[in-house]
Amino acid sequence: MSSIKKYSILCLLLSLSVFILFSSQAKALDNGLALTPPMGWNSWNTFRCDVSEVLIKEMADAMTTTGLKSAGYEYIVIDDCWQVGRDENGNILPDPDRFPSGMKALVDYVHSKGLKFGIYSDAGRKTCQGRPGSRGYEFQDARQYAAWGVDYLKYDWCYHGQQDPYESYAIMRDALAASGRDIVFSICEWGSNEPWKWGKDVGNLWRISGDIRPCWDCTGDRACNGIMQILDLVSELDLFNYAGPGHWNDPDMMEVGNPGLSLSESKAHFSLWCMMAAPLMTGNDLRYMPPEIIEILTNNEVVAIDQDPLGAQGYKFRDFGDTEIWRKWLQKTKDGKRQDAFILLNRSDEPQEMSLYVEPQAFVRDLWKKKDLGTFKNGVYKTTVPPHDVVMLKVTGLTFKN
Ligand code: GLA
Repeated sequence: MSSIKKYSILCLLLSLSVFILFSSQAKALDNGLALTPPMGWNSWNTFRCDVSEVLIKEMADAMTTTGLKSAGYEYIVIDDCWQVGRDENGNILPDPDRFPSGMKALVDYVHSKGLKFGIYSDAGRKTCQGRPGSRGYEFQDARQYAAWGVDYLKYDWCYHGQQDPYESYAIMRDALAASGRDIVFSICEWGSNEPWKWGKDVGNLWRISGDIRPCWDCTGDRACNGIMQILDLVSELDLFNYAGPGHWNDPDMMEVGNPGLSLSESKAHFSLWCMMAAPLMTGNDLRYMPPEIIEILTNNEVVAIDQDPLGAQGYKFRDFGDTEIWRKWLQKTKDGKRQDAFILLNRSDEPQEMSLYVEPQAFVRDLWKKKDLGTFKNGVYKTTVPPHDVVMLKVTGLTFKN
């Protein structure tokens, strides 16, 4: 082979690899959104298909009047059933009876409250409730969402046939990027294709399980994802390794305040979701919350654990069967001291004595009592945890690693 020919082949190979490098970089998700886990409300857990513009407006109002907005909740997300068909040009059509003023007007209303608006679609031909999915209409739908002013898309996985999950979600990622609007992308494929392994390049959050149920421990029912079942899944799969700013494991919308959970179970559920750096999507009726539920959802010290800027997901630190200790690394203090959050969890039906070694120099604060407990001479903090409940602590100044 002549040296000119060799040189041309080399140049060709070089430009090909530069092209591949740049095109694959351009494809990675880089929308700069959800640097802390997104917080908001989603219609599905309580309202299923019973959504309308009246309901969404009332929920936006309640988000502000209850203090949830001030606590950091910002997205109002309509889940399935808002859409009824497509027009002759393929444009997606909201249900005219339930959304008579149209989506743009509704989004404007939500924005006028200083909140953000989220919508739902599906990567397959239909949504889980049989409404039109986005398959084949990804760019058109994304443009429509952007024109309405949508800020968040939850994208489901029903009716996907033989579709490849990565490709199916990547198309919508690219469509959202091309729409020119900042839209948080929430992957909802229930963990079936290990989205924690590829989700970071595609979306800002990904569901890790089937649908949550408002029960503490759904023993014996394999289809039931109670609070304890989802928690166990997260620790079995070591999912904490995959979370970080801009990309989060999603253990599903919360059931806090919904029938099926006692007050202490709601409190424990909320604490554990914060520990897992989970997206905090409330799934209850914000219009009729008892004060104790508002108190749970707006405990700013607990929310701060979820929203800690380091973005580390907590993990199971000790397992004693009926009781567990969970730990989450937090951003260091300004003067360089380590901070850790701990949960002492009692899964059982009886009160349990629990203790945590915190070292004598470390300073302990109880985040539910909102009370400084100070230091412990022998380095051991001891307490009794009620059934189906937690004690949640912030510890400053630890030195041990494991
Ligand atoms: C799936 C999702 C749920 C909800 C419903 C709507 O089951 O996992 O969160 O969006 O679809 O049909």
